[in-house]
Amino acid sequence: MSNKAVISIKDLKKHFPVKNVWGTDIALVKALDGVDLKIESGKTFGIVGESGCGKTTLMRTLLRLVEPTSGSVVLSEELTRGQFSCNNLEDLTSDELRRFRRQIGVVFQDPMGALNPRMLIKDIVSEPLVIHGKTDNTRERVIELLKNVGLGEEHRYRYPHEFSGGQRQRIVIARALALEPKILVLDEPTSALDVSVQAQILNLLNDLQRKYDLTYIFISHDLSVIEYMCDRLAVMYLGKVVEEADTEELFSNPQHPYTKALLSATPNFEKDKEKIMILGDVPSPITYLDESEVKLATEMTDQERLEIKAIEGKGIDYIVRSSLNEVFPLKKIANEHYARVK
Ligand SMILES: Nc1ncnc2c1ncn2[C@@H]1O[C@H](COP(=O)(O)OP(=O)(O)O)[C@@H](O)[C@H]1O
Ligand SMILES: [Mg+2]
Repeated sequence: MSNKAVISIKDLKKHFPVKNVWGTDIALVKALDGVDLKIESGKTFGIVGESGCGKTTLMRTLLRLVEPTSGSVVLSEELTRGQFSCNNLEDLTSDELRRFRRQIGVVFQDPMGALNPRMLIKDIVSEPLVIHGKTDNTRERVIELLKNVGLGEEHRYRYPHEFSGGQRQRIVIARALALEPKILVLDEPTSALDVSVQAQILNLLNDLQRKYDLTYIFISHDLSVIEYMCDRLAVMYLGKVVEEADTEELFSNPQHPYTKALLSATPNFEKDKEKIMILGDVPSPITYLDESEVKLATEMTDQERLEIKAIEGKGIDYIVRSSLNEVFPLKKIANEHYARVK
């Protein structure tokens, strides 16, 4: 990766303890299990992976909404502007952390849950300004922010329920931009929307990125959205990055079996390639502390045996889910392309 990284994430781990009824730790959920990423300035970095692989935990850890178990996050000069005592996120003072968070706007997945139903749109959009004490010209600023996302000043005195899903997401985006952040973290920003509305929101995000020179961290489980939006992406599986490359390279030359399966399941991925199915239930990221409770990760389950029986002879290649649990170190595949393969 080039040295224009605005944020470098190094061996980041977040393990949640699982307790029994007596309050003793019996297991660990390894939501993040050693993630290394460099987020390049002005670009869109995608994070893709199925539900439970640790995408939201990564975002929350990055914002220090949760404390990581270990690892570090290094901020570039672009973010610290020489005004912080250091560039390690974990060593910032609480005042510096507040200033750091101001530079990162967040768009959460569920646009209804993210909006207080009892607040007027003008108060929702200006809330970050009020919290951070930037209240001169609030009225003009709200009008400008709404205009930026394709809404009008007449919308200021309405409530969230008076808007469609797409419009609500525009409101969330307007609020995320209120403090003029450098980075926007978008956690499944269009998953709750119809396809036609999705496209409008994605185009809006592209326009805003160009206009304000924003860096995007774009989280999604939808590869067609990722392909459309991202310059580079990381594929996550069970708390680990299993493959990382520029979008074009990753889509044309996938290496990890999980990436291949994801791509083969994407409808508009037009390549006369094998159809791959993943068999078996999504594995749990839980590790038991008592080794005697650990099942062999690569053992085939009854469920997997059944599923194989069901598709045998139908011309579909398959990957047995439990085989994905085998972890190899990241290997260099091509320029800036890494994958956990043998
Ligand atoms: N506060 C928490 N306590 C315990 N386990 C958690 C907590 N937050 C997330 N997890 C677990 O960590 C894993 C990753 O979750 P998450 O980051 O939400 O995944 P994703 O966003 O990719 O769906 C899941 O197994 C989830 O159950
Ligand atoms: Mg999530």
